[in-house]
Amino acid sequence: MNAPISPGLLRRATSPFTLDCDSSYRRWREAKLAVAATRADQLLVHVGNPAAISEDERDALLARLSAHNMALYQLPEGCKDKALVQQLGAQLGITQLDANWLADEDGVSNITVARAATPDAPRADFIPYTDRAIRWHTDGYYHPAERQIRSMILHCARPADQGGENALLDHEIAYIALRDASPRHILALMAPDAMTIPERCDEQGVARPAQTGPVFSVSASDGALHMRYTARTRSIVWKDDAATRAAVACLAELLESPLPQILRVRMGAGMGIVAHNVLHDRSGFVDSADSPRLLYRARYCDRSHAPELAWR
Ligand SMILES: [Fe+2]
Repeated sequence: MNAPISPGLLRRATSPFTLDCDSSYRRWREAKLAVAATRADQLLVHVGNPAAISEDERDALLARLSAHNMALYQLPEGCKDKALVQQLGAQLGITQLDANWLADEDGVSNITVARAATPDAPRADFIPYTDRAIRWHTDGYYHPAERQIRSMILHCARPADQGGENALLDHEIAYIALRDASPRHILALMAPDAMTIPERCDEQGVARPAQTGPVFSVSASDGALHMRYTARTRSIVWKDDAATRAAVACLAELLESPLPQILRVRMGAGMGIVAHNVLHDRSGFVDSADSPRLLYRARYCDRSHAPELAWR
């Protein structure tokens, strides 16, 4: 008698993200592209009270997370309490906050320009805490596999005077574009030694060891696709072979192309993004002296309760 097939094995055998089942990929791709958003306002949900969202609001946010791996929300004016970030995440099933060493005590980072001669001054060494543009990336691309950032919330408390726009791209759409260009690109970017982020040192020595890993990986627990990527060209070492170089060049080209699914949004006060760590960038910005741009950023090691997109 044959042993029963475990759901995990079945999921792997029919995963649209591995190269061994093209028919699964084709069906999933069709379902995914049929619902893909081409305007940021398609992601937007108005939320009345972030501490207690209604069932309709929750369903609307989770539906967008299922289809696009991200949703935008708009809160009423006056919702300014930083605790709203964690409250909102928890109601969507996102709870495993990953606090980095620059985060505040609550584990949520205040992303604002670090001023010289203030306690925040050391943060100015890190680009999020400057007014400079940030290139395409997913969050935590320098983390080890056991600390993957699977979700993020970015909430705008105060916009910049000018600029500070975000571009967003569902990493599953990037996967489709690359696989359509050549399955060899996927093979190269799934290699466990595709991308290395060198160690970061400070006065005390090695602050973060080097991290080597794939760009695309599939979660053993739930079958979701994860992406680790940065378009930066310094402090990153790509595997030195022709297949990796071709895949990385194709991805970089794709992100600079007028792909209709690249969404752009300039968040105003009370607007935020909740996402399964999709690709994003940030344009440079100019602050007004008395009201600098302030975003709250939370990163999580779990995904929302959004169901898998229906494709099977
Ligand atoms: Fe980011």
